[in-house]
Amino acid sequence: MSPLHVTRTLPEDATDAALRADVLSGLTDHPKTLPPKWFYDAVGSELFERITELPEYYPTRAEREILADRSGEIAAASGARTLVELGSGSSEKTRFLIDALTPLRSYVPVDVSESALTQAGRALIEERPGLDVHALIADFTAPLELPATPGPRLVAFLGGTIGNLLPAEREKFLAAVRALLAPGDGLLLGTDLVKDEGTLVRAYDDAAGVTAAFNRNVLAVVNRELGADFDPAAFDHVALWDAEREWIEMRLRSRTAQTVKVPALDLAVHFAAGEDLRTEVSAKFRREGVSAELAAAGLELTHWWTDAGGRFALSLSVAR
Ligand code: AVJ
Repeated sequence: MSPLHVTRTLPEDATDAALRADVLSGLTDHPKTLPPKWFYDAVGSELFERITELPEYYPTRAEREILADRSGEIAAASGARTLVELGSGSSEKTRFLIDALTPLRSYVPVDVSESALTQAGRALIEERPGLDVHALIADFTAPLELPATPGPRLVAFLGGTIGNLLPAEREKFLAAVRALLAPGDGLLLGTDLVKDEGTLVRAYDDAAGVTAAFNRNVLAVVNRELGADFDPAAFDHVALWDAEREWIEMRLRSRTAQTVKVPALDLAVHFAAGEDLRTEVSAKFRREGVSAELAAAGLELTHWWTDAGGRFALSLSVAR
């Protein structure tokens, strides 16, 4: 059986430094913001797993439907011998693709969570002896160096997570992905699609309140890591659709006028009653927009698959 290679490019203390920098700049910004990547401690990751099972939260099921139905076509179109998966997490949905990719020799899952990577990697090696699994513990929003594995390469970025990036960040990110590819290599990108406002808002404001708990959990993360004294119950969960920018925003709205201390940053942050802290942008896409953003990065959209309900898309593009 081939071994599981694990490479860490993320220094152990990088997370702490990045959190401090993000919290300092975000809480002193106008309007106040926190980046969504800090939702995902153990509690937040568990809450996100529960979100993916909610009746209102369709993206995970829609993407799984596409992968289950179309993996053969995707595999044939790409012919990849190396699959690089950014933000792989548990790699659960990716299994459809891995199973269909018969020429596959190397799988390179990239994630900040070492436990998710090694667990998924071990299970895969047992089922596909001979497959070289090279797990990268890395932040895929920072520059990446990939192991020397056989081409053609397919980079997969699933889940619609690209929607968490603002347009300028997406442009940078797609250019960085393109830089990992040789001409003819591919990008498989998951994007949630623009649809009616009610469906979108319900997906981010579920009746059981799981998304509200997920949203408030970022305050618990800042409390634990930076000694802050946020009272999560003093903030209301807000999900709203920005029709102009075509994105969902999650916010935490201060119920009262209050001051929050963040001792690790020597910071006191005042919130007016009703003031919002933006915690996430989740952009929704149309085919023309995806195609244009890919083209600007040197990627040509060649395939577009959606679920039967037309809610979510997987696009395959090829590096020029
Ligand atoms: C994991 C980033 C794709 O934006 O839909 C779910 C995160 N936020 N509910 C998304 C999320 C609120 C999710 N992504």
